Amino acid sequence: MPLTGIQIVLLADLLLLTYSCLPYSGQWNRKNDREKSPLSDGVSSENLRTHLRQLTREPHVAGTEEELDTARYVRDKFLEYHLDSVKVVPYDVLLSYPDREKPNKVYVLDEAGDIVFSTLGHQKPLYAPEESSHRVFPTFNAYSAPGQPIGDLVYVGYGRREDFEFLVAEGISVKGSIVLARYGKSFRANIVKFAMEYGAIGVIFYSDPMEYASQGEGLVYPNGKYLPDMGVQSGTVKWTDGDPTTPHRPSVPGTYRIPESEAELPRIPAQPIGYREAKKLLENLAGAEAPSRWQGALNVTYRLGPGFVRPGIGGTGSLRDFGEPPRCMDLRGRGSVERHGIAARSRTAVRRGRGSLEPDRYVILGNHRDAWIFGAVDPSSGTASLLEAARLYGEAAKAGNPPRRTLLFCSWGAEEYGLIGSTEWVEEYANALADRTVINLNVDISVSGNKTLRAIGSPLSFQSLYSTTKKVGNPNPEEVKDGRPTVFDTWLHNSPSENTDFPTVETLGCTSDYAPFVHFLGIPSIDITYNGEIEDYPLYHSLYETFHLVDYLLDQSFNYTKAVTQVWMELADHYANSALLPFDVRDYSKFLRQQSQGFWKTFGNLLEKHNVSLDSWSSAIDNLTSAAEFFHGEHRESLDLDEPYQVRRFNDELMAVERVFINTMLPSGNRHMIYRPSSSNSYAGQVFGNLVDLMVASDPDWNEVKVGVSIIAQMIQSAANTLMGSINVRGF
Ligand SMILES: *[C@@H]1O[C@H](CO)[C@@H](O)[C@H](O)[C@H]1NC(C)=O
Ligand SMILES: *[C@@H]1O[C@H](CO)[C@@H](O)[C@H](O)[C@H]1NC(C)=O
Ligand SMILES: *[C@@H]1O[C@H](CO)[C@@H](O)[C@H](O)[C@H]1NC(C)=O
Ligand SMILES: *[C@@H]1O[C@H](CO)[C@@H](O)[C@H](O)[C@H]1NC(C)=O
Ligand SMILES: *[C@@H]1O[C@H](CO)[C@@H](O)[C@H](O)[C@H]1NC(C)=O
Ligand SMILES: [Zn+2]
Repeated sequence: MPLTGIQIVLLADLLLLTYSCLPYSGQWNRKNDREKSPLSDGVSSENLRTHLRQLTREPHVAGTEEELDTARYVRDKFLEYHLDSVKVVPYDVLLSYPDREKPNKVYVLDEAGDIVFSTLGHQKPLYAPEESSHRVFPTFNAYSAPGQPIGDLVYVGYGRREDFEFLVAEGISVKGSIVLARYGKSFRANIVKFAMEYGAIGVIFYSDPMEYASQGEGLVYPNGKYLPDMGVQSGTVKWTDGDPTTPHRPSVPGTYRIPESEAELPRIPAQPIGYREAKKLLENLAGAEAPSRWQGALNVTYRLGPGFVRPGIGGTGSLRDFGEPPRCMDLRGRGSVERHGIAARSRTAVRRGRGSLEPDRYVILGNHRDAWIFGAVDPSSGTASLLEAARLYGEAAKAGNPPRRTLLFCSWGAEEYGLIGSTEWVEEYANALADRTVINLNVDISVSGNKTLRAIGSPLSFQSLYSTTKKVGNPNPEEVKDGRPTVFDTWLHNSPSENTDFPTVETLGCTSDYAPFVHFLGIPSIDITYNGEIEDYPLYHSLYETFHLVDYLLDQSFNYTKAVTQVWMELADHYANSALLPFDVRDYSKFLRQQSQGFWKTFGNLLEKHNVSLDSWSSAIDNLTSAAEFFHGEHRESLDLDEPYQVRRFNDELMAVERVFINTMLPSGNRHMIYRPSSSNSYAGQVFGNLVDLMVASDPDWNEVKVGVSIIAQMIQSAANTLMGSINVRGF
């Protein structure tokens, strides 16, 4: 079905700011063991609150007029804060919206084709006045294919590959069926992709109270942070990143666009519904009982289907609402999209030379600006932090204290649709970014809970995460009373790592805009957030992510948002101002050793059987381990910190480390050979993902596996060579 009509300005834009224009103020000799940055003490909870209030007054879905308003707000603040160059960079991209007049719904039809049950198609306003805004879209999954498939319903649990395989083993085919999948264990686009692979013709998503309302009705929004029964998680179902019509190319004027029919997009409809509605479907499903791991917290016996119960056939629930024999799903179109650029682009210039010492080295602070609805948590809590950090850095620069390296403040557009703004920008400036970027410090969400910090990051950055979190006070007074005075202490307490005395830093997957930087270019990246229990963020992407949620339920004092802002600023300060970059390769070699041993343990017998030698891989890790010891020991001690070229060379070698893991022979976005987004759940990072995918194929190509193993061994050795003075290591 072709996309039709409404004119909407699309803006997958970002705000880019650099400052490097003030006189040099003698930071050359600043050493690495730095004090807490005086700047982060200036973070104001009141400012954070004010920004969040302003940013969440209207929905700000990518490409809408309201999102453009948030861009203007951020731009004006950046200008007010004396940042020296601010650009709104437009990209022309394919987005996807529902039809406001004809909401997508799921229908149950009787034999005559009459509708006997229908979902509502929108979420009910419950508390905050803005929930009733006419600018709220009906519920939808972005890039759902248009269409009105009709078929029997099958319940597929969490919709992972193993769940579909389980049904195959039970003799239940989803071919020609509509599947009901619950959110909570996998990225929804992966679920749609699996559903397509197994022949389903439509996907209905819902959030089970087991994961999303575990504390009972009393604590659902607006009384608590849990999901009400008509709450719905929106979200994209596209599994590639960036604009689908310009894969691997920037969406700038003149770039060739493939026709939408050739774009890699879902070919079946998908639609999210509330659990009150899902209960109607589940209590009438026929078939065998679902396994206990698929039973949820609704008061029904979850069955597999296919189809609904008929009189006299087993099952639970009343047929009254359904007529007989009910069938399911009528989804209306993908909605209307029109593509426009906005205003001509001005030149992007990094001003050089007039001040800070290394203007051609970038430290990025990134956050996306677009939300599914009000986005008070995701992403506007992070946007508030970005603005407050920008204010403090801007004021410091104006007062004569510019950073040593250039800070880029990036406010990404259209992240929710599939990291579009960041991906297009990375595609446009790939070479410069790859050469010059020290690190990408991302905060998608500042606060989704008040329990502990959560960090995702490159092993190179572990030490900087430990040291900066030790400098920021624990925002939870009860925790402080229990003897955990810093953010580090509570982080260590709540998520200790298995093999070290340090907290867990998760592997970089694909949860936010750092992904194109690390997986395509090999730029070390970090993402931090404050959360409750891991995954305990029930109102994620729902109508109820309002200012009230943060201001009243999650962070009344804004002390948690403040703590994240402070950690973010400490990190930025560490990377932008330390003479020697605070990367530590010893953690990378430890990480590689642990992860490799895990891989060898899992696949060792199989590899041996097929004569895949692991000797080089193992030897390369030994070599990297000693190279890293040498580099951070003897070599570091021999440096003359007053010699700019020595310092720069040391830093350049550190910057090269993560880059060696990029396999430039691969055309796709995921070229990092040490980790990548899991191909079954792209939220999660999968270590040696490209190799693991080869190994778990039904009939592995062993020569390909040998190539993969050689590439990894070679890359690790290259990292070692880099630290040992590069090319002069082998030969006679
Ligand atoms: C669960 O459903 C059964 C059968 O409809 C009903 O008797 C029971 O009261 C329900 N339990 C709860 C806790 O609602
Ligand atoms: C943390 O949040 C919970 C609600 O999720 C609330 O009950 C508790 O009081 C909060 N604790 C602190 C110290 O803010
Ligand atoms: C927030 O932080 C301030 C300053 O540290 C403190 O006085 C206040 O009690 C904190 N509020 C809460 C709710 O923890
Ligand atoms: C592995 O190597 C041995 C000895 O070279 C050879 O006999 C065997 O056929 C090889 N196996 C495979 C699967 O290539
Ligand atoms: C590791 O270093 C040793 C000694 O320089 C060398 O012989 C060996 O080939 C290196 N390993 C790899 C995988 O290059
Ligand atoms: Zn987000």
